[in-house]
Amino acid sequence: MPPLNSSDPGGPKADFCFRCIACGKLSEQAGQDFRCASCGDLLEITYPGWKTTRPDAANLKSAWRQRRLSNSAVDLSGVWRFRDLLPVLGDDDHVITLREGNTPLYEMPQRARLTGVPRLFAKHQGMNPTSSFKDTGMTVAATFARRAGFRWVACASTGNTSASMAAYAARGGMRSLVLVPEGKISWSKLSQALDYGAVTCQLRTDFDGCLRLLQQLVLHAPVYQLNSINPFRLEGQKTLALELIEQLDWQAPDHIIVPGGNLGNSSAIGKALLEMRDLGLISRLPRLSVIQAEGANALVRTLREEGGKRLVSVQAETRATAIRIGNPASWKKAAHVIAATGGACEQVSEVEIAQAKAEIGAEGMGCEPASAVTLAGLKKLVARNFVKPDEAVVLVLTGNLLKDPDYTIEFHRGEMFKGVSEAGAALDSLRRPPIVLDATLDAVIRTLDQAEKS
Ligand code: F0G
Repeated sequence: MPPLNSSDPGGPKADFCFRCIACGKLSEQAGQDFRCASCGDLLEITYPGWKTTRPDAANLKSAWRQRRLSNSAVDLSGVWRFRDLLPVLGDDDHVITLREGNTPLYEMPQRARLTGVPRLFAKHQGMNPTSSFKDTGMTVAATFARRAGFRWVACASTGNTSASMAAYAARGGMRSLVLVPEGKISWSKLSQALDYGAVTCQLRTDFDGCLRLLQQLVLHAPVYQLNSINPFRLEGQKTLALELIEQLDWQAPDHIIVPGGNLGNSSAIGKALLEMRDLGLISRLPRLSVIQAEGANALVRTLREEGGKRLVSVQAETRATAIRIGNPASWKKAAHVIAATGGACEQVSEVEIAQAKAEIGAEGMGCEPASAVTLAGLKKLVARNFVKPDEAVVLVLTGNLLKDPDYTIEFHRGEMFKGVSEAGAALDSLRRPPIVLDATLDAVIRTLDQAEKS
């Protein structure tokens, strides 16, 4: 089996090593399952060299800005532009990139007014090449997979990881194997994996079942695991925080709010924030809060019922299929960064998610249901006075509106939440059902008049 560490035989020594998040053991190699050889817990990537030769914050900021003027692929990537804080590659030509990252930070004037938080922004990761945040991690992990000599990469997925992995594998000349829960991922995501050439298996189980199987598979077959258990993924996903705070001219916001599923993304963003503080790139830490769907609230329950000490698994059920996960792999990492940044963990109902999604759409941005938990969660955090009106808040929108058109159409046609009492006038006022008309000028003008009055 090829080694997974970064140093090529005879090449430069790796600048990073793996550290177990539980026992702290350091190692230069990681096995196929990316788990600690001593205690079996997850690994993270760490950079021992930063202790002796700490990168200079001002130099980093200026280099990152300078690279925006360049036309080389690694500089055009919104991930590799920040390569000084990523595992060293040695040879930039080997990067597998689709020019990921570089996503917009939007103001949300309407929601700012309605939520009472005037400085409200959305970092739209749905504007990545395969339309979700997964690309920022995939470019790094797929690059290291190819570098380690793997022909096959594989993942379990609720849809977005598989779409992203299939694209990067195809770009990098590797084969990809996708394990998804049958009937529980959106057609858009499934169609992406197919078109990018993945071998796609729809398994009769849920995401948690797919992930369990993948973890067995990587111990029996020479396939490289590209789930967020893979710490290279999280290094790439860290760059969201770098890019976001650079967009705010290095003035960190007070709060960053992310959806929580398998909890890799929150862990990655939190890791980035802590590293940025330690390197002097920011002078104070934003609070990182994680929002889950009520029906997939493993982290919420883990923190409330077990004080973050033991995972409370749940049987996940939510229409936000991207986060339909009951046994999140990175729960310890996420619990750590929430505590370290003083963040919160909240849950939101299906109706609250649908309302928030339609509101984000009405702002001219749109997102997939899982991303909308951030706005729904913000409302709860404001009501709880955890987020104060004078604070700057960034919602991380993880996936594009077009990732789940069935959900959106069902919502607007009024087919969602039939007979659910919680779904009242607030939802009705957001619905914009399509109107079927005779093709006459008169009919269209009448419709326009009615719309103007309503
Ligand atoms: N938002 C979207 C759109 C997602 O696709 C996911 C996860 C999340 C949020 C949650 O991120 O798992 O890092 O906490 N999707 C994975 C997948 C599980 O397979 O596509 P997380």
